[in-house]
Amino acid sequence: MPHQPIGVFDSGLGGLTVLQSLRARLPGEDFIYFADASHLPYGDKPEAFIQMRGQAIADALAKRGCKAIVVACNTATAAAADGIRARLSMPVIALEPAIKPAAALTRNGILGVLATTRTLTSRRFAQLVKSYAPDATLIAQACSGLAESIETEGPESASVEALLDAYMRPIANANADVVVLGCTHYPWVKTSIARRLLPETILVDTGEAVARQVERRLTEANILGGRGQLRFAASGNPDKMRAALARLCGIFMPVESWDV
Ligand code: DGL
Repeated sequence: MPHQPIGVFDSGLGGLTVLQSLRARLPGEDFIYFADASHLPYGDKPEAFIQMRGQAIADALAKRGCKAIVVACNTATAAAADGIRARLSMPVIALEPAIKPAAALTRNGILGVLATTRTLTSRRFAQLVKSYAPDATLIAQACSGLAESIETEGPESASVEALLDAYMRPIANANADVVVLGCTHYPWVKTSIARRLLPETILVDTGEAVARQVERRLTEANILGGRGQLRFAASGNPDKMRAALARLCGIFMPVESWDV
């Protein structure tokens, strides 16, 4: 059991920002990373569809021997985490926008949140705000097309810059002093986001917190252990993911094509 891999998935390459934190914290673990590339982006798709994909992917990872699943996608967490937990007995660690730490960090009470439409309109997000930031002024910006542009055009592309110009304006104008990166794709453009805000603005993402949570859950279950190996898979064309892995992470590895 301890020497089985941890399964990590996202709609695409956003979850690689989480995988980086996981590997930094748990270098001895084996990971299988799955990108649902043929269904990117999740952010504008119906909840029932994302629910169905999340369950199919979790089943595929479990079938390949994973001992735990990390849902490295805010959109998939909102739609599918409960369903995945209901069908698998292994630890399932999911992530959601860092509203709680942001509410603790803000001094002027103005929070910016960047996320997908699906995340921001979810019941889970409404609950999160009600529980942890009921008194904050929240500038919640849905970033339709941003995750897709980061993947297809690249983090430094003109299309990403144009989208950020539009999406960052309301948050910058409101003087938010803390901005939540509520989609795992957005840390890839953290510098471009920061450039549009005052230098003292704090950007929060969830990679490290999730890695700590995974360590805690696996320690409790007594299933930590591996050989530090990595395996990558995708739905759809694996060539695109292979190229992006090299470009974004400096990882030159084969990518398996899974029929999920
Ligand atoms: N990376 C995903 C998230 O954290 C969503 C990207 C997409 O729209 O597919 O929400």
